[in-house]
Amino acid sequence: MPSFESEIKRRRTFAIISHPDAGKTTLTEKFLLYGGAIAQAGQVKGKKNTRAATSDWMEIEKQRGISVTSSVMQFQYEGFCINILDTPGHQDFSEDTYRTLMAADSAVMVIDAAKGVEAQTRKLFKVCAMRDIPIFTFINKMDREARDPFELCEELEKELGINTYAINWPIGCGKEFQGVYDRQNRKVIHFTSNTNAKAATATEIEPTDPALAQLIGESRHQQLMDEIELLDGASCDFDLDEVRHGKLSPVFFGSALTNFGIEPFLEAFLHMTTAPLPRKAGDEVIDCFDEDFSAFVFKIQANMNKAHRDRIAFMRIVSGKFQADKEVYHVQGGKKIRLSRPQQLMAAEREIIEEAYAGDIIGVFDPGIFSIGDTLCTASKKFQFDPIPTFAPEHFQRIRSIDTMKRKQFLKGVEQIAQEGAIQIFKTPYTGMEEVIVGVVGTLQFDVLEYRLRSEYNVELYKEGLPYEFLRWIVKENEDAPALKEEDLILPSDAKLVEDYKGNQLLLFSSQWSIQWTQDKNKTLKLAEFGGARF
Ligand code: G4P
Repeated sequence: MPSFESEIKRRRTFAIISHPDAGKTTLTEKFLLYGGAIAQAGQVKGKKNTRAATSDWMEIEKQRGISVTSSVMQFQYEGFCINILDTPGHQDFSEDTYRTLMAADSAVMVIDAAKGVEAQTRKLFKVCAMRDIPIFTFINKMDREARDPFELCEELEKELGINTYAINWPIGCGKEFQGVYDRQNRKVIHFTSNTNAKAATATEIEPTDPALAQLIGESRHQQLMDEIELLDGASCDFDLDEVRHGKLSPVFFGSALTNFGIEPFLEAFLHMTTAPLPRKAGDEVIDCFDEDFSAFVFKIQANMNKAHRDRIAFMRIVSGKFQADKEVYHVQGGKKIRLSRPQQLMAAEREIIEEAYAGDIIGVFDPGIFSIGDTLCTASKKFQFDPIPTFAPEHFQRIRSIDTMKRKQFLKGVEQIAQEGAIQIFKTPYTGMEEVIVGVVGTLQFDVLEYRLRSEYNVELYKEGLPYEFLRWIVKENEDAPALKEEDLILPSDAKLVEDYKGNQLLLFSSQWSIQWTQDKNKTLKLAEFGGARF
């Protein structure tokens, strides 16, 4: 029987982040395959191919008509118990995507070797960097024409502001992608194409071995030797401590589709990452090995289908062990509760579970008592985890009920949906009670809102798109500082002062330039990119 400590030590909980199409789903599927959680490589989903990737929950769940986004998978690999958090792509991108990252202890950033850093990578990276969690870069699609690897690393450093260290180095790209040079073991791993097998066939060979030149060609060999020299001379030292504090990103090259470099990446990644990270609760730090159970809710998934009205609250266990029959204390509700139908996602199946450990993610049936950021702990040791930040929406609409008689339902519906955390709502002194400004991170949420108001509250919406793209929280000098008025500020014509329903004041802007302009003209004004959290 593994001990409590060893169960926790072997856990790794990470998110995979990428711009859509970089290969996140393919890579996840290969991980599941190595872990034996799925049996077949299935050449991944595909528009041409009707089969969906096992990890592509969104589509599967939509087809089944139950709910939008659920996104945690657990599998075992070489003694490790791995929890992967999926971060949904462009269509379904939402604040949930950001919040999911709060439950991760590290992130794997998948980059398309032909494209480099893309918009969505940049956004997701920023949220990971905010918590200084370790970020591992996997440069994918090396089996296609790729950009120069030095250039890619330089772009990562420049665009994202993080140091990089190439753990391996690619030998060629496209059809000529023949393997990688493992810088730590100073060996070349030569791959042979083998798409259908579990792993690519790999042969290890010394870089100076004359057989290598024969295998990959004289000129490619010479190029590799030059590049090794350049890398050893130019790059910074590898410092695991810096990796673990999110200051240095180890970079790996490979191809998820052809299985090149995936297993070495997974192995190195698992050994470089640590057991579940502690979380802050005010002045206290809650460590994963604390015997008392604790967890926080980071996502609530309400069903979109009327026939299935259940809500699932996803929580990340921070410390101790969860047991299905034990009572826990819900801090925000001020009550002892029993978590009902706790479930975990194992590859394609939802399983009702009996126990789970720090680092794990469990989903529990929510009768409407949980909110995002809520703490669960034991009644004998009560505390509250620091709140999950609110992330700035990027799309805004002004909405009201077409039927003015339905104002009450309209406000109730909008407020309730906002409480679930899928949308944020704001008011201005001029919109009065009938209208609200809605802000979302991904535009799909506008459709979700409209659909839900119609089906659940019987309200038809009048919507008007607004040109704002940025939102900043106004940081108060102190709690008692009076609210600002528009005339207290010098604002550009495209900025707007609004208030959220908790009374916080915010500014909406239509360009980055206006934010800068506002800062320059109002020297004492303090603006924050994230709301409601200490970090
Ligand atoms: P995502 O989850 O990040 O959105 O990406 P996903 O894994 O779905 O991959 C996007 C496309 O890229 C897929 O093509 C997939 O097969 C392909 N792909 C992923 N990894 C690799 C790789 O290492 N090499 C190559 N060559 N391709 C890769 P698709 O959806 O089947 O079709 P299409 O988009 O090519 O039409």
